[in-house]
This record gives sequence, structure tokens and C-alpha cells, in this order.
Amino acid sequence: MAEPLRVGLAGLGTVGSAVVHLLDEGRDKLIARCGRPIEVVALTARSRGKKRDFDVKRFRWFGDPVALARDSAIDVLVEVIGGAGDPAKRAVETALAAGKPVVTANKALLARHGQKLARLAERNGVALNFEASVAGGIPIVKTLREGLNGASFTRVYGILNGTCNYILTRMEQDRLAFADCLREAQRLGYAEADPTFDIEGHDTAQKLSILASLAFGTKIDPDAVYVEGIASITPADLAAANELGYRIKLLGVAVKTPQGIEQRVHPTMVRKDSAIAQVMGVTNAVTIDAEGLAPITLVGPGAGGTATASAIVADLADIARGVHTPPFGRPAASMTAIRKAPMQHHEGGYYIRLLARDRPGTAATIARRLAQQKISLESIVQRHDAGSPGAAQPGRSGEPVPVILITYATSEDAVHKALAAVRRDRVVSGRPQVIRIEKN
Ligand SMILES: NC(=O)c1ccc[n+]([C@@H]2O[C@H](COP(=O)([O-])OP(=O)(O)OC[C@H]3O[C@@H](n4cnc5c(N)ncnc54)[C@H](OP(=O)(O)O)[C@@H]3O)[C@@H](O)[C@H]2O)c1
Repeated sequence: MAEPLRVGLAGLGTVGSAVVHLLDEGRDKLIARCGRPIEVVALTARSRGKKRDFDVKRFRWFGDPVALARDSAIDVLVEVIGGAGDPAKRAVETALAAGKPVVTANKALLARHGQKLARLAERNGVALNFEASVAGGIPIVKTLREGLNGASFTRVYGILNGTCNYILTRMEQDRLAFADCLREAQRLGYAEADPTFDIEGHDTAQKLSILASLAFGTKIDPDAVYVEGIASITPADLAAANELGYRIKLLGVAVKTPQGIEQRVHPTMVRKDSAIAQVMGVTNAVTIDAEGLAPITLVGPGAGGTATASAIVADLADIARGVHTPPFGRPAASMTAIRKAPMQHHEGGYYIRLLARDRPGTAATIARRLAQQKISLESIVQRHDAGSPGAAQPGRSGEPVPVILITYATSEDAVHKALAAVRRDRVVSGRPQVIRIEKN
């Protein structure tokens, strides 16, 4: 039998410890598939004395991830420490510079430094594999990079954050408020103690920036992503969406437009009968649109130790077999700077929920302001729904009444201008709720 692939494992948390178990349990299967064993030989983490769910003494211990990365006893570094900075960054750079392939689950590192790391990997003729960094156990990186090599991608979009999808699912199914669902997600371990990064959409933005680069051959640029989180979504929005034939999901969308690549993360209305709308709870999904191909949707676990470790082991299996592609599916030097499509040019349908003052002339004023921006309405619903926040009782003149408008395709700019004018006219109370509708 050929020599084993000797793995240095940096990070022994949720993902790192699952990698140890999966390699142990899958040893024979991996030998059959790769023609050689894949073995962890050395480890590092912050604390040597911490209680782990495997016997640390089976492996060589390193106090420093960078020393592990350069050690001649390992053939490949698995980086599952996390974070865009050191020691993860320096450990990965050190391994690549020493001619050792790297497998990482670290989306933050890739979103910030993916381009430079890919160049370093190519210069040294080694792999940099990162399947686990986006949508955990779903093989989306390989699908975009290798499985669809012949395709011209037009749009990639998905549910890339399980915490947000869990919260929106619970809000929809049980008409619960956002804050209650967030607390529940934290109790169940689906949300971090500080959930800001997830619920404000930044986690999805980092993952989307990686997918956009794979699909469109552009340099990764997480700062070019327009981001809105889910905290403003109410049970009333979810109920209204349901009645109108939609669900609300936090989507990351990267789409090719005549103005450039639009990358955006925001709550989105998707048709209830679409594949992506069926994805509930912590599950993730990605839909790929390409010229001449019917849409492809991959659905699966987006996080969790075993799911994420499964992607890492698959990346290790490629290295064990000697399979080697450029990290982003093309030479890093050929990746172009992203031409960012300005968000105000975004075109699509919109859901708008207004609290209209119940007095003569309000409807005519709103209609006039929309018409001035050439916005046509597909539907208009006036809700005397006492259960909605801010809703009025019918017949109590002067109280605001929720009005829901669904527009035909228009531009972001037109919607903003129309709503600014409506607010200046003082025919609505508070800020209108605006949710973009994604065609699917
Ligand atoms: N968890 C998931 O479901 C998931 C899914 C997809 C991707 N990821 C990515 O996978 C990576 C790891 O996530 P995780 O959930 O496994 O994290 P985690 O449970 O917090 O584990 C992090 C590990 O890194 C070690 N570490 C932290 N700082 C270190 C340092 N300065 N030097 C050496 N070791 C250090 C910790 O050591 P101690 O154990 O001694 O504290 C711990 O073992 C992250 O990039 C994350 O984004 C995670």
C-alpha cells in the first residue's frame, strides 16, 4: 500500500474533533477509495490540557500552529482554527510556502485573503481546498469549480446561514416574534451568544463572496456585497408573504447584470413552490443558474461538526489521490477585479408594507407617487388585521392601516424615491417595510 497522507490538524473544536473521528471511522473506506490511508499525525489547539472527546496522546502535540505547518512530519495542513488573522493566516501561508497543501473551513480567511493565498498555493504547486468554508456539508465549491466546468453561470444564490433560516422558519410556522426565535435558537445552540454577525447578514456575505468568485472568475471582495439582515422582519410580513404565495428567506445572491456583478444579501421573497422555499430550519441550499441549463439546487446541512468534517475529508481525499486544480478553478492571476453593479440599479419586484393613515386621499397620494416613478402594482392588499404590529381596528378613522403593495419589476432607485415622497406627504406612519422579490 502507498504511504499514508500525514495530516497536521490545527484546531480541535467542533470541526477539528469531528475530523479526527471521521478519519478514524472511515479509514478502510478511504484506503479503498484513495489507495492510501489518511492519518492525523500531529495536532495543535489553544489549550493542551482541555478535555477532548478523543485521546490527544495518540498524536504529536504542537504549541504553535505555525510550527506545525512547517514541520516535515506532516504532508498536509488542515486549518480549523478560524478567523481572518493570525495564527490561522500565518499557519496557512507557512504550509503553502513550504510546499504543503492546505485544507481549510475558514470563510473569513478566504473572504479576506483568498486571492493572495491562491496565488501562493499556485506558485508552490500545491492545493488549497476549502469545500467546508461555504454551506458546510454541501459540495458547492466542487460543483462550481469542477462539476460545471463547461457552464456559463448567470446567477448563484442560496440560504447560507442556518441560524437565520431557523429563525425565519420558526417565525413563519408559529407566528413568533424575531427576538423570541433568536432566544430559542441561542438556547438550542443554533445561534452564537453574540449573533450579530449571522443575523445582520455578514456571515452570508463572506460565503457569497467566495461563491461569486468561483462562478464569475472575479477577485473575492466581501466589501462589494450589499448587506441587510433579518431583524426588521415581522410575523406580519411572513403571514402576508404566505397569503401572497411567497416565503421570506435570507438569501445571498450573486448575479451577472449588464452593469457588472451584483452581490447582495437581504431578506428575500421567494415563490412558495420554488426549490429554495422548501428549505426549512438550519438547512442550507444553493441554486445555480447557468446558460442553457435548468437550475440546479443543492440542499443539505450547512454546519455542524460531522457535516463540515465530511467536506474536509473529501478535500483530503482529493489530495491523497493527487487531484489538483487551481483553488478558484482558474489561475488566480487571471481573476479580474469585480465590476460592482450599483444597488440602486437593482431591478426586480418589491413587497412594500406601509402603515397608511386612514383618511381621505391617502390611497390617491400613494398611487400618484408610485406612478411618478413608473412603478406598476401587481397587487394591493389593505389589512385590518388586529394581530399585526401597528394595525388598526377597522372603522377607527385616523388610525394607521397596514397596506401591502406588490410591484411589478422596477428599480431600487424608483422604490426609494417613491417611498421618500410618500413619507414627505405624511400619509404613512413610520418606515415602510421593503422586501425584494427574487424571480425563481
Ligand atoms: N462549526 C461549524 O459548524 C462550522 C461550519 C463550517 C465552517 N466552520 C469553520 O471552521 C472553523 C472552526 O470552527 P469550529 O466551530 O470548529 O470552532 P471552535 O469550536 O471554536 O474551535 C476552534 C479551535 O481552534 C483552536 N484555537 C483557537 N485559537 C487558537 C490559537 N491561537 N492557536 C491554536 N489553536 C487555536 C481552539 O483551541 P481550544 O480547543 O484549545 O480552545 C479550538 O480547538 C472556523 O473557520 C469556522 O468558520 C465551522
